[in-house]
Amino acid sequence: MERRSSLIVVLTVVMMVMAATAERTINKSGVLYWSTAEEEAEAQLQPRVDDSAVNAEFDADGGFSSLDSMLQWAIGHSDPDQLKEAAKDVQGLSPSDLNKRRLEIKQLVEELKTPSDAQLMKVAILDLKNSSLSLEDRHRALEELLELVEPIDNANDLNKLGGLAVVIGELNHSDAETRKMAAWIIGKASQNNPLVQKQVLELGALSKLMKMVKSNFVEEAIKAIYAVSALLRNNIAGQEMFYGEAGHLLLQDIVSDSSIGVRLRIRAVVLLGDLAEFQLESTDKDELPFFSDRILLKSVVDLISSVDLHLQEKALIAIKNLLQLETTEALVLKDFCGLDDALEKMRQRLQDLMVEEYHRDHAMDVESLRSDVQLIFSRKLEKVTRMVA
Ligand SMILES: *[C@@H]1O[C@H](CO)[C@@H](O)[C@H](O)[C@H]1NC(C)=O
Ligand SMILES: *[C@@H]1O[C@H](CO)[C@@H](O)[C@H](O)[C@H]1NC(C)=O
Ligand SMILES: *[C@@H]1O[C@H](CO)[C@@H](O)[C@H](O)[C@H]1NC(C)=O
Repeated sequence: MERRSSLIVVLTVVMMVMAATAERTINKSGVLYWSTAEEEAEAQLQPRVDDSAVNAEFDADGGFSSLDSMLQWAIGHSDPDQLKEAAKDVQGLSPSDLNKRRLEIKQLVEELKTPSDAQLMKVAILDLKNSSLSLEDRHRALEELLELVEPIDNANDLNKLGGLAVVIGELNHSDAETRKMAAWIIGKASQNNPLVQKQVLELGALSKLMKMVKSNFVEEAIKAIYAVSALLRNNIAGQEMFYGEAGHLLLQDIVSDSSIGVRLRIRAVVLLGDLAEFQLESTDKDELPFFSDRILLKSVVDLISSVDLHLQEKALIAIKNLLQLETTEALVLKDFCGLDDALEKMRQRLQDLMVEEYHRDHAMDVESLRSDVQLIFSRKLEKVTRMVA
């Protein structure tokens, strides 16, 4: 900061001197007069700085884009007494010293033009705290934060700057677009970030986000489930809270309700598959009874017959994980859920798709996954039939 303020003085004075050299009508006392009476001086100096001779001087050296605004800024940030002193110094400088100073100034200007991410985040957070901010400006501040939290260091700074609580507060906003943006930011900042996950969970945002998943505004529901998924990934505390608030039933409702849009159902079944996979990897933990619930299993199996290939594929992945859990029963999957029938029908549909050039590659990928699932399923079935026999 010390270095910066002294550079500001130098910047101001050098520009004054340059203006004086370019336009020989300014005399020394004029310069000093100006530096002690800021306001009149601004009006007085502006036309001189606009002079093309002065601008040419700067431009030859790589150029300052807006000399005028820069100068006004510098005047506003300078101490008049310091200016007087510096002015005396600068006027005694040799051309090469002057040039060196100019390079320093250029560097300063570049620093000023590119504020740090933390500074930008502070500004956005301050805006969001302003209750009289227009909705348009609020959305803009949220969009800025959304971009800023992408690098992990910035995401880690968000809470330190007081931003996380502010963004979580926005989840309560009456405007759905604002709520959507806030959920999106929380999701992005928590993605693969245990520190932010913990902070968000401690601030109690999970249950609010879970309610938002049921929003009638599709985009809000989608960003909310994105945030919920980011908070639960590899996070036991988050998952416990989620189950504690009946998150599994929430997922089951979405997965089984065909009136809900495909995008949200895809995300719900992906989350379900991720949770099953996490359970599968946590061999030290008892399996949750929910995963072997036949109603749930049937609703996932039914998705294999949905019209959307993407949804079918994600359902298959979830089934692949669910099948490998100890507590899911092969006979329930066969008799109650009709898994073998569903897999066979899917095989036929994929065969048909492979004929079409456009779908071939994707259909082949999904078929490979489908045959994996079939294999795991028949092994699981074999085990029980052998035991019965
Ligand atoms: C120098 O500046 C002072 C104060 O602004 C002014 O009174 C004086 O006339 C100026 N002299 C010349 C030669 O411009
Ligand atoms: C809050 O926003 C309003 C509207 O944009 C603005 O006029 C006002 O200066 C802002 N207040 C603060 C403290 O930034
Ligand atoms: C959101 O609103 C609810 C109820 O109106 C309140 O209980 C909760 O504390 C609010 N959350 C935040 C973060 O402001």
